Amino acid sequence: MPDTLTVTDNRTGKTYELPIAYGTYPEYGAYVPGVGLRTVKASDEDFGLLSYDPAFMNTASCKSAITHIDGDRGILRYRGYSIEDLAANSDYLESAYLTLVGELPTAEELERWTHEVKHHTIVHESIKKFFDGFHYDAHPMGMLVSSVAALSTFYPQARTIQDPEVRRHQIIRLIAKLPTLAAFAYRHSQGLPYVYPDNRLSFTGNFLSMMFRMTHDYVPDPVLERALDVLFILHLDHEQNCSANAMRSVGSAHADPYVCVSAAAAALWGPLHGGANEQVLRMLDEIGTVDRVPEYVERAKKGEFRLMGFGHRVYKNYDPRALILRDLANDVLEVTGRSPLLDLAKELERTALEDEYFVSRKLYPNVDFYSGIIYKAMGFPVDMFPVLFAIPRVAGWLAQWEEMLEDPDQKIARPRQVYTGEDLRGYVGIGER
Ligand code: CMC
Repeated sequence: MPDTLTVTDNRTGKTYELPIAYGTYPEYGAYVPGVGLRTVKASDEDFGLLSYDPAFMNTASCKSAITHIDGDRGILRYRGYSIEDLAANSDYLESAYLTLVGELPTAEELERWTHEVKHHTIVHESIKKFFDGFHYDAHPMGMLVSSVAALSTFYPQARTIQDPEVRRHQIIRLIAKLPTLAAFAYRHSQGLPYVYPDNRLSFTGNFLSMMFRMTHDYVPDPVLERALDVLFILHLDHEQNCSANAMRSVGSAHADPYVCVSAAAAALWGPLHGGANEQVLRMLDEIGTVDRVPEYVERAKKGEFRLMGFGHRVYKNYDPRALILRDLANDVLEVTGRSPLLDLAKELERTALEDEYFVSRKLYPNVDFYSGIIYKAMGFPVDMFPVLFAIPRVAGWLAQWEEMLEDPDQKIARPRQVYTGEDLRGYVGIGER
């Protein structure tokens, strides 16, 4: 059986044979190169057929070897390693290395990588002036988006994106400095003095210290430090989502990585992308008590609103990240104290998953369902949730960016359009309109 698609253009009666190619999983990644449609023409003057696909609902924008999602089976893997395996055995920095390089590091590689990241956590003193300039109630994500872009002005050599060594240097800087910028944003919004990085601590321990240290003897809780590592692993990459697409698109114009990350973070800030866990908390607050869950679910079924943290464009099964987070929430709450929100969330999940409406539509809890509860229990304010998403996701964005730059097929991202406006018209003077 040939790997081709035969198409007949009924306007002309001509038949075309388009090649079908495959990714790693033939049942999941069979594709027809879109440019093949250009050969389908009504006449010699015709430009050829375009494929119309707003929001890339069925268009692969690239080939990628980084992350694999099988939404029907609830599978998420980075470089072939399952998310469950990594969450149980790895930490954020090691998983970031894996995602960027493609292989797990040896002991020496990991030591060097960790050392390099830890020694780039300090930001230039002038960056503090940017934070000082923000209004007292500025949103931390707005401060993060702006200060990452500002980093670009401190490292002009970053524009030499063709040099792998220069790229590596910026990748380390970005992974290292994002938690510092994030903590500065938080402390500015609280009117608290900035806390400098403490490189004796782990990556996540240092972040907790920069966020919450009030006295010199602050020691991050090891359970919370580990929980943050797991959360960071789970949020590291999610293939071609809106922010990854922004990273690749801006990067395809050969902009430097700092402004690319700023653009990706701006996309992430949108409530349709990185903001759903905040909505979950608002929803749980609104429900209030366990006995009100059935009534709330009924209203969601009537279409009054959606259950936040439920459903996913790709996962038509349990989001594997949500399963890990449900257990993690128990560990964290043992340290921080019981939260009625977790009991409420579990009851909501149980009720919905027994209901025909949710079962038939394959609506399961997604990553946002439990993450907000954990972050809140750890002491992070709701405004910081998208920032907490951006810190680990930067490694995913950078992996996507490097892969794009090294892909010989990839040119500047420049979609086509179907023009639906006026045909040529003559200019009409102001007095005649
Ligand atoms: N609560 C109630 N009904 C829902 C929900 C929900 N959360 N999600 C989808 N439905 C229903 C929807 O009304 C529709 O029903 P019908 O067929 O009767 O019209 C059906 O399920 C299919 O919905 P859809 O809008 O076509 O599905 P989609 O794939 O376009 O939407 C989604 C995916 C995530 C936007 C949607 O499920 C949703 O709005 N969920 C709530 C918000 C949320 O939790 N977002 C976080 C997503 S995970 C983030 C990440 O991975 O980065």
